[in-house]
Amino acid sequence: MSAPAEIPRTRAIPDEDQRRHRRSVVIDTLADIVCRSSGTVPLVVIHDATRHGGHLADELAEAVYARGQPCARLPDPAPLIDRDLWRADQAAVTVVVADGPPHGDGPPTGRRDLVIYLRTPPDAHAHHGYGDAEHAADVVVDYHDPTWPVIRRVATHLEHASERVYLTETRAFFAARAATWDHKFGRDLPAYAQAIDQAAIPAGATVVDVGCGTGRAMEALRAAVGPGGAVIGVDLTPHMLTVAGDSTEPAAALLLGDARHLPLVDGSVDAIFAAGLIQHLPDPAVGLAELARVTRPGGRLILFHPSGRAAQAARHGRSLREDEALGRPCLDQLLADAGWTLTDYDDPPHRFLALAARSGLR
Ligand SMILES: C[S@@+](CC[C@H](N)C(=O)[O-])C[C@H]1O[C@@H](n2cnc3c(N)ncnc32)[C@H](O)[C@@H]1O
Repeated sequence: MSAPAEIPRTRAIPDEDQRRHRRSVVIDTLADIVCRSSGTVPLVVIHDATRHGGHLADELAEAVYARGQPCARLPDPAPLIDRDLWRADQAAVTVVVADGPPHGDGPPTGRRDLVIYLRTPPDAHAHHGYGDAEHAADVVVDYHDPTWPVIRRVATHLEHASERVYLTETRAFFAARAATWDHKFGRDLPAYAQAIDQAAIPAGATVVDVGCGTGRAMEALRAAVGPGGAVIGVDLTPHMLTVAGDSTEPAAALLLGDARHLPLVDGSVDAIFAAGLIQHLPDPAVGLAELARVTRPGGRLILFHPSGRAAQAARHGRSLREDEALGRPCLDQLLADAGWTLTDYDDPPHRFLALAARSGLR
């Protein structure tokens, strides 16, 4: 188990100090990413649909400057139409921070700009048609609540930052949601039960709910395996496990752990349930291979979400892409490479369900 954090005893909603701290962690992390990339990334564009990114751009420019990097803050990237010329005049400036949409025609010769995309409520995106902008960005920040921003993705070419950012930011994202998660999503429980029923997990099985969150699937999983079976919940976010521990009967073991390094021996599990997990992993291939490692040959994998992919994309104001990990062709390949065989794939608006069987030890 890789997670060193303790499971907290409280599950309160973050207070003002915690929110201030969260914002400064994000600014510092972005400044680190920018400074460590500045040899190749002279222009940083904060891109959002609502134009509220100006504050973030101000704070980022200050943080970059405070790190000793000569930095200019522009109110808009528009003056940089002839960027090479502008940069030649500004030799002392190594980083330029602007807010607004980046130019569509790509970076100038030999340069790579860094686009930080702010994910905001989808209403704003509808007016601006920003469906693919998130996909094209180098860094994606969830900015639905500007007092609790969370970095949700860092492009692989910025590798130096990605692992640390992944752990801190995933936990921050879900920690703030843990206390209200069940209240917000409680009505989805019948869909979980139906998916688990359809997966036909055998009685007496050992099943692991990876990314179990607040334990919403536990009751249905326990019913499926019966008194002779075992249910284990694993999650990366301590606050989610605290809620799970409050609401789950002692019949399930809860472990703080990472889906990419499970604290389980090879082939020890009959079935894996993972709801809403794969899209949060930085490299789904690594996660699926680890799930395969702990599953016995013939064991089952149940990938579930209580809404379909199109509905999830619409909720986030982005276009649905078939080259996402859970798109059918992509998932088929990822599963095969990881040692699974896809047996069922269902993606209507009201749920996502993919079932796979462990193909045999590789
Ligand atoms: C969208 S929530 C779903 C929670 C729960 N499965 C449900 O359906 O309510 C995703 C969960 O995955 C957890 N998670 C994200 N990355 C993880 C990882 N690498 N290992 C284990 N859990 C992870 C998060 O902490 C969060 O609780």
